[in-house]
Amino acid sequence: MSTIIATDQPTAPEVLVLGVAKLATGKIQIQSAGYKLPVERFEKSLSRLGATGALDQVFKINGDDGKFFVFTGLGEVSDSYPHETLRSAAGAAARQLLGEKSATFSLPHKDSQGFAAICEGSLLGSYVFDEFRGSTKKDRKSPLGKIEVHSRFAKEKSSKAILKRAEIISKYTHLVRDLVNTPPSHLTPASFCEKLRPLSRKVGVQVEILNEVQLKRQGYGGIIGVGQGSANPPRLLHLSYRPRKSKHRLAYVGKGITFDTGGLALKPAQGMEAMKSDMSGAAAVCAAILAIAELNIPIQIDAWAPLAENMVSDTATRPSDVITIYGGKTVEVLNPDAEGRLILADALVKAAEVGNRNGKLDGIVDVATLTGAQVVALGTRTSAVMTNNEIFQNHFMGSVARSGEKFWPMPLPEDLRASLDSPVADIANIGERMGGMLVAGLFLKDFVDNELPWLHLDIAGPAYNEKLPHGYTSVGGTGVALRTLLTLAEDTVKR
Ligand code: BES
Ligand code: ZN
Ligand code: ZN
Repeated sequence: MSTIIATDQPTAPEVLVLGVAKLATGKIQIQSAGYKLPVERFEKSLSRLGATGALDQVFKINGDDGKFFVFTGLGEVSDSYPHETLRSAAGAAARQLLGEKSATFSLPHKDSQGFAAICEGSLLGSYVFDEFRGSTKKDRKSPLGKIEVHSRFAKEKSSKAILKRAEIISKYTHLVRDLVNTPPSHLTPASFCEKLRPLSRKVGVQVEILNEVQLKRQGYGGIIGVGQGSANPPRLLHLSYRPRKSKHRLAYVGKGITFDTGGLALKPAQGMEAMKSDMSGAAAVCAAILAIAELNIPIQIDAWAPLAENMVSDTATRPSDVITIYGGKTVEVLNPDAEGRLILADALVKAAEVGNRNGKLDGIVDVATLTGAQVVALGTRTSAVMTNNEIFQNHFMGSVARSGEKFWPMPLPEDLRASLDSPVADIANIGERMGGMLVAGLFLKDFVDNELPWLHLDIAGPAYNEKLPHGYTSVGGTGVALRTLLTLAEDTVKR
């Protein structure tokens, strides 16, 4: 990972990153955190090169003796850029600086949160995933070595904490991305657990792992049913963080399908490869609890990752099979491709049971790449949030505003619930096709007590970037939800 420092007085950096904004006149303007530079010469060159100041546009211009300047688009000119714009612009520049030893980022910002966003963006953009390259590995460039952020807040007391938080955000976002990018040949339910074990120990997070025998004996019919078609048996990973001084308590539950073939409702070959990302929710909740622990946030957290591989075989669940979820509710599995909700149901019931033991949960949040309908409704960059408690959702949306991630509230209309009625079991795992994201949410709602504030985050589109890189987002796993889950924990302590 890149290292990061802050300075209020950069001295002759080798590589200098500046902003370029669009003016109302159509011209462009260079903007910085107060770096003195003969801007006119550069503005002329940039215009000639075709720079418009648009976000995600990055231009490099040579300076004297090997030095160079990097100009990153900020969009329309402003005296106070949205923090997410700064995060994104810093990330887009960092992505163009692979192989460089160091760079100084001087981008315009008004407050310490803007400073934080530049730190986060530059670190988040400095990511490569080369673990599975063989003979071509040696030709690959490593991420930017050292990041220096130019800010008048550099000398302030809060600066150290801001840098540390940015480092932890980037470290754990990179962990989520690594887990998502790791091919299913190398990431099974068991190996997911083994990867998390040492990382958890290091930050004082307790680890409990249930194997397939224990899961079966204890009645986790959802996880067993989904995992039973695979040679790689399922797991339930439970991470818990118990700081001494804590009045608050949250439970996070993440969908951990290490590969989703669709089971006997086999998915078409084209695009199936993206289903290695179907464990993004599990990766996000596990990484979030580690980040929360490493930042010593005084809140009790449980992270639950039901893990299974949804495969096709003679032992796979058949359409019309009935399974029993932890706690006793039965489900008719009409479609084995609607598997996420089955493993989440087990984990939600268990998480509530443990969470309300010796205390009370402030809330429970599940995170899942749950439905294709989410992508149809909101596209690939905006995640959905659904709830049984508007107050908790509003609190969450406050955290969303601070993290800079994109979430949009969706309803859980009661009229759709009847479509999940089963003629043989308590509930069926699919219902009305139209509004499929909401139907999935309604299914999960059946497994959560109405009194327990609950959020369901569907990150199907945003978890995995199959298109071009943008801002601080690389191709492949994005690490979405990590920042908001961390921020939610911080905000819940302040509640
Ligand atoms: N993992 C998929 C959802 C998904 C789709 C995630 C696209 C990321 C990108 C999920 O298990 C699934 O297959 N859902 C079905 C549900 C349907 C059978 C009710 C879907 O959305 O088609
Ligand atoms: Zn599926
Ligand atoms: Zn799935």
